[in-house]
Amino acid sequence: MKALITSGGRGTRLRPLTHTQNKHLIPVANKPIIQYAIEYCAQAGITEIGIVYSAESNAVPEALGDGSQFGVSLTFIPQEAPLGLAHVVKISQDFIGEEPFVFYLGDNMVVGGLRHFIEAFEKNKSNCHLTLAKVKDPQRFGVPEIVGDRIVRIEEKPKYPKSDYAVAGIYIYDKSIFEAVNNIKPSERGELEISDAHQYLLDHNFKITYSEITGWWKDTGKPYDLLEANRLILDNLEPRIDGEVDDNSLVTGKVTLESGSKIINSTVRGPVIIGKDTIIENSYIGPFTSIYDNCQIKNSEVEFSIILKDCKIIDVDIRIEHSLLGNDVEVIKTAGRPATHRFLIGDQSRVELL
Ligand code: DAU
Repeated sequence: MKALITSGGRGTRLRPLTHTQNKHLIPVANKPIIQYAIEYCAQAGITEIGIVYSAESNAVPEALGDGSQFGVSLTFIPQEAPLGLAHVVKISQDFIGEEPFVFYLGDNMVVGGLRHFIEAFEKNKSNCHLTLAKVKDPQRFGVPEIVGDRIVRIEEKPKYPKSDYAVAGIYIYDKSIFEAVNNIKPSERGELEISDAHQYLLDHNFKITYSEITGWWKDTGKPYDLLEANRLILDNLEPRIDGEVDDNSLVTGKVTLESGSKIINSTVRGPVIIGKDTIIENSYIGPFTSIYDNCQIKNSEVEFSIILKDCKIIDVDIRIEHSLLGNDVEVIKTAGRPATHRFLIGDQSRVELL
């Protein structure tokens, strides 16, 4: 069985972080989001993976390489424009061929692996096996209408959802999906919608089955989804200390500290991950925080946050919480008069002051 993973789209809801990088390459618990999808496929025994990427940029192929570092073989399939998820499947037909395959949205994260979904697809002799997750805001997703234990209808981002389930971004198909994606028409927003392809399968009496995701699942579409995904991944991470912790520091809970990093006269309360060559000095790092490589945090407090590489947080009096800092960001206290806040902030940034 092969897998197809998405890494295109516009990433507009994750601006400003996506002004300078592809959303699938943003690290969650210090690992690019898309790497989780690749690893889940590898764990399920899938070694041939197609990655659909936006033809505008080679960032994803360059970051992932040939896949050997993950024990898989990656084939990159360019998409000229973000014309929809069914379009992604359509342009991948030559790569997939005739065999069943997993279609995995590269911005989705799920704990518990894929194997049981594949087993359910095979056991039920389905044409299409969907994964469903209960959500508070079904309007954001593809939503099934379920009668008894059967899906009878699927709508994309409906105003009035017929259930409180979202169709999650892990699908298993046989070749009948190609008949569907080759016959549907673009939606009002100009995309070939995957939900319309599913509706085509229902209308033409193909067998759609589903599994409910009972653990956690996250579509990392919005900035604060990233913090929540980060929290969940950190909670499941095995701690490891490769860097240095001095005698005046207190490190408790699950903490990963990569080589070249130092914790000096500080308190770090896990779950926390700190990348390579980062210095934490006279500071407090609280639970559910990821700090990437080459950062400096001095005389400051950070909790429940994601800090990307090369950031400086220095002499900040008030705890930074519930925050996302992109690469090479500085938050520093300035001395002198007049006592003012000074900003140099890129487009679509957000600052909340006390
Ligand atoms: O997350 C689950 C939801 O994903 C489903 O419930 C919806 O039915 C499905 O349409 C999709 O909705 P989103 O609005 O979240 O899709 P998004 O545009 O965020 O794209 C999902 C992934 O596919 C993401 O990795 C970007 C990529 N993509 C998207 C489009 C439209 C592409 O690679 N090419 C595209 O043309």
